[in-house]
Amino acid sequence: MNFTFGEYKTQVIISRETPVFEKITADLQAVGKKPLVVIDENTKSIAEKIFGSNVHYCLLRSGEENKNWQAVETILAAARKAFLGRDGVFIGVGGGVIGDLTGFAASVYMRGCRFVLISTTLLAMVDASVGGKTGFDLFGIKNLAGTFYPAEIVYMPLESLATLPQREWKSGFAELIKTAVLDGDDFLDVLAENAGKGEYVIDSVNDDANDALLECIERAVLYKGKVVSEDFREGGKRKLLNLGHTFGHALEAAAGLGNITHGEAVAWGIVQSCALGVELGITPRTRAKKITALIASSGYDCSMPHPLAGSTAFLESMLSDKKKKDGKMTFVVPDEKSARVVTLEDTKIVEKILKEGFTF
Ligand SMILES: NC(=O)c1ccc[n+]([C@@H]2O[C@H](COP(=O)([O-])OP(=O)(O)OC[C@H]3O[C@@H](n4cnc5c(N)ncnc54)[C@H](O)[C@@H]3O)[C@@H](O)[C@H]2O)c1
Repeated sequence: MNFTFGEYKTQVIISRETPVFEKITADLQAVGKKPLVVIDENTKSIAEKIFGSNVHYCLLRSGEENKNWQAVETILAAARKAFLGRDGVFIGVGGGVIGDLTGFAASVYMRGCRFVLISTTLLAMVDASVGGKTGFDLFGIKNLAGTFYPAEIVYMPLESLATLPQREWKSGFAELIKTAVLDGDDFLDVLAENAGKGEYVIDSVNDDANDALLECIERAVLYKGKVVSEDFREGGKRKLLNLGHTFGHALEAAAGLGNITHGEAVAWGIVQSCALGVELGITPRTRAKKITALIASSGYDCSMPHPLAGSTAFLESMLSDKKKKDGKMTFVVPDEKSARVVTLEDTKIVEKILKEGFTF
């Protein structure tokens, strides 16, 4: 799949097997210096299998709590140590954290180097690795600093998911649900059929479950790619992709970054968005029920009110959210077929839902 995002082009290659070094080199068309491959503890072995000793490595600690400026500095230092020039290639091998960090470092090192991703989590495949948002957490706020800098090639090898822990499967599945809400009810139905199958084990790359998974990944990439092609810098339609995120990011911050997964937070956030949408008369109650039923049956915490949601940290995080403009808060809520952006001057209704909960 090929996409154009603003002035950038991205090629997405979804495959069952992990690409070999020679293929990547050929796809990149002659790399001068050895690329810098950014990995974490859990993706080290995947990268070493692909690249052997043909590259420079930069090893980071894994997890959201390490998605910070120190990690960016570590990547930049490794690039400098390897004497990468402007034609240097940064390759991130990992999930959304490695992708966001590597993309950011690649975008600022010498004002922009070549950037490639090998996605190894479901979440990175269905969402994070496509569309060019890079960044890191700062002052306890998710993605406070970042750039728009799409990878020129994104590899999505299903085989690499074989070692993914169950909780991370679930995290990725939440972003699939988000895309399905936006894309329409037939995608939601496909996911409902596959809910709870987070235990896909890619030891046999040909079975039916993996066919379904491949199809879901393709569909999500296609949807996101199309939206971002139309609105790269998030002036309009791209905002829809933040469904569940205003609430979700605040929950992540309140729980302490890294203590709940991004997907768990987003899933919970989508439930709150459904409640808000119903209260505002935008989300049909039947659709809200369908969406929340899928989220609940997929094993996510849907508690309303959430024990953390009335906390000071939670409210502070909501108020400082990047999507807040001119004292108004922006939310994405499901509508009849997809979702729409709403701007609220008065957030009492949101506070009420957070404090008192909601019955669908
Ligand atoms: N840029 C975007 O558009 C965008 C979109 C959505 C989310 N994100 C970001 O993505 C991040 C979440 O991504 P994530 O869920 O992939 O998190 P992650 O990168 O932290 O990966 C989750 C965990 O799985 C491990 N892991 C990765 N691949 C593995 C494998 N194949 N086998 C075993 N373990 C593996 C990682 O080391 C980590 O411990 C968040 O920081 C979020 O803000 C970015």
